Amino acid sequence: MAKIIIRPCQRLKGSISLPGDKSISHRAVMIGCLACGTTRVRNFLNSEDCLRTITAFRKMGVRIRKIRNELIIQGVGLSGLSKPVGPIYLGNSGTSMRLISGIIAGQRFRSRLTGDFSLSERPMKRIVEPLRRMGADITSKSRGPGARSQEYYPPLEIRGRGVQAIRYRLPVASAQVKSAVLLAGLFADGITRVIEPVKSRDHTERMLRFFGANISVKGNIISLKGMSKLKGRVVVVPGDISSAAFFLAAAALKKGSSLTVKSVGLNPTRSAFLDVLKRMGAEMQIVNRTVKGFEARGDIKIRAGRLQGIKIGPKMIPGLIDEIPVIMVMACLAEGKTIIKGARELRVKETDRISSMVSNLKILGADIKEKEDGVVIEGRPCLSGGDVKSFKDHRTAMSMAVAGLNARGVVTIKDSACIKTSFPTFEETLKQVICFS
Ligand code: S3P
Repeated sequence: MAKIIIRPCQRLKGSISLPGDKSISHRAVMIGCLACGTTRVRNFLNSEDCLRTITAFRKMGVRIRKIRNELIIQGVGLSGLSKPVGPIYLGNSGTSMRLISGIIAGQRFRSRLTGDFSLSERPMKRIVEPLRRMGADITSKSRGPGARSQEYYPPLEIRGRGVQAIRYRLPVASAQVKSAVLLAGLFADGITRVIEPVKSRDHTERMLRFFGANISVKGNIISLKGMSKLKGRVVVVPGDISSAAFFLAAAALKKGSSLTVKSVGLNPTRSAFLDVLKRMGAEMQIVNRTVKGFEARGDIKIRAGRLQGIKIGPKMIPGLIDEIPVIMVMACLAEGKTIIKGARELRVKETDRISSMVSNLKILGADIKEKEDGVVIEGRPCLSGGDVKSFKDHRTAMSMAVAGLNARGVVTIKDSACIKTSFPTFEETLKQVICFS
């Protein structure tokens, strides 16, 4: 079983570039496949999850090649996908499962989407309901007390039979659900409208517009006109801010650190973590801001500061959802109390990230209390060493590596292979910037 051993370090120093953003990489493949003509994707994230998306579209007849650092997709247009032979296996990737469901809802064939043990335990009612309303025929594993309160889980068997446009108010702030409905809406006559309770990451909207879709956003309402032709483009994927978060947090915590993370995506619906870093007291600067295509990016320079506890409320959660585990680590070492509320969604990620982080951080001596929708943390000057688990969740594993850099003893993270789902080069990159003297 793979494990990572983290020894306490002196500081982090240097300059790094990170692999491409996971959310944008998935979408570039999906939308590139549905466009007419060639799409080229640069700095594509070569992680297990994103490779699942590529395999899925290859199974539906799309030619996707990797030549040096570029992914070349021969788009087939909205009506060019073909029926896959056998089930489409999506491993651990929730984004692949939910977004591809939207695309398959718009096809005229039947297909079966399956996943690994963790993905098979993730709730799918959130996409099954709107896609059924649009006209898709979906069967899934269902469980729960009564017909109304039943939850649906993969495998999903989807038979598209022509979708119709809907107006849909999202019951949860989720970019995956929003994107599933919008991608299905590409195949509907008329205008599909999605209303968000709180804005979630908007990569799908931006990318669809970039590829030529007729899409508009007014406040929290997104309107997409179906059946418009998409045209292949060149997509340059920015560095993943959610991967950058581990390094930024580690440098913010470790006295004497000074780190630059280059060309990181700065989409405003994804960068709330940078506000948290500032509010907690890290010294941070963004330089070389540019917009390539449709997403902003820049270099983030960070120095350690004396971190203070903060309050994070429900409205902030969608913009920070993947960064909460590492914020918990920062909070354990900050001065004073941190309260995180309204983060119930963390319980339905690759693992229950509230309970995985609480149990791991307690092993390292943190003062952290689990609440139904978040945590309450009293910061301490130091954590101790110990053996912790990844819970087969990449972000739990990498967050615990950040904790280990700030512990008094050695921290071993067991079952760390899951890191490959989003950041296969994490350990190498860490080695580039940690200093032991
Ligand atoms: C993602 C959306 C978020 C996030 C996930 C990627 C996306 O999930 O946690 O890592 O690419 O749309 P939810 O939509 O479930 O919040």
